[in-house]
Amino acid sequence: MKNLTIDPERLWDDLMQTAKIGATAKGGICRLTLSELDREVRDWFKAQTAALGCTVTVDDMGTMFARRPGQRTDVPPIGMGSHLDTQPSGGKFDGALGVLAALEALRTLQRAGYETFAPIEVVNWTNEEGSRFSPSMIASGVFAGVFTRDWACARADRGGETFGAALEKIGYRGDERCGAHRLSAFFELHIEQGPYLEAAGQDIGVVTGVQAMRWYEMGLVGQDAHAGTTPMPRRRDALLGAARVVAAVNACAREHPEAVGTVGILEAKPGSPNVVPGEVFLTIDLRDPDAAVIDRMERYIGETTQRIAGELGLEITLKPISAEPAVQFDAGCIAAVRAAAAISGYSSRDIISRAGHDAAYVSRVAPAAMIFVPCRDGISHNEAEYSSKEQCAAGAQVLLQAVLDYDRQLSERYGG
Ligand code: HGY
Ligand code: MN
Ligand code: MN
Repeated sequence: MKNLTIDPERLWDDLMQTAKIGATAKGGICRLTLSELDREVRDWFKAQTAALGCTVTVDDMGTMFARRPGQRTDVPPIGMGSHLDTQPSGGKFDGALGVLAALEALRTLQRAGYETFAPIEVVNWTNEEGSRFSPSMIASGVFAGVFTRDWACARADRGGETFGAALEKIGYRGDERCGAHRLSAFFELHIEQGPYLEAAGQDIGVVTGVQAMRWYEMGLVGQDAHAGTTPMPRRRDALLGAARVVAAVNACAREHPEAVGTVGILEAKPGSPNVVPGEVFLTIDLRDPDAAVIDRMERYIGETTQRIAGELGLEITLKPISAEPAVQFDAGCIAAVRAAAAISGYSSRDIISRAGHDAAYVSRVAPAAMIFVPCRDGISHNEAEYSSKEQCAAGAQVLLQAVLDYDRQLSERYGG
């Protein structure tokens, strides 16, 4: 299978072309899930895969599966893909690289007239980022049975529009029940989004698993008050409470060598220069390779929050939104990635993912693994995010080879 080589120029051109859908002035992308821009890139994806002769299935969470037939129609497809939605100030590579590299791998098979044993599918998962509708990876979460579709479709953005209404509005609510779609395996290529591969000087990350992560929403209620006439001791200042919570999240994460803790959204009401804020909404994101560490951070934040509430006369509610345990990917898929890096002539090292990915949920219902390429200065969820044309091509080549290696494993297993 050595002669099956992806076209680096074609892949780079797809990356740059689709980056124009939602392009920001600073060179990034703002293409929030289920927006008109998301619809536009979905239409592009559907046209590209249909032109390759694929049949495109959309499930009732909007996830798209573009299938290229193999020798056997009775064997579930090998999936490869990622997501096309972005952060509000996202980069050109987070998600897009995984979908477009999979598309290029499919084109390579088509160009070579190569027939695989199993069908091959390129997958675009809905709402991986969780930025507009939290939590992240919500569609792959429904696919894996972690969330119900009703719960997911009722999630609302900060403007009050629900996931379900937005999905209908862009016309991407498919007929297939989310989760009914069987996969023999799933491979996801992604930019590392951290500094480790670049620092180690390695071409490819063989991703063996994903760290544990939990999301929470917090409400703090005090009392709106006049900034001029309300003496300090009489105030119930929700923003002061929120500031102490932000400091507590940061402090407890720093207590553990591998942990991270983030308050990403903080909204104070009424938002007027001369009113003491009586209400705050904020989000908390906790992660660590060891879920027991997150347990400890969660306990610390709960205790600290109660103390802050007492000291400042606030009502504080902490609502868990999602809790993903640490993930260990499938040994057979990991071996396929490792072999693919070697046969393609790239250096590689094992690595765990510090970011969440759809493959993490998919691994609950199908064997899965991931491939990383280096991320310049480890900067991601930032418009400056960058992997070079060569690095993207290396990742796509390893993705193709890993899928072909797994296809060979399936053929032996089914006596093909
Ligand atoms: O949050 C994450 O780790 C992913 O980028 N959605
Ligand atoms: Mn991503
Ligand atoms: Mn992301």
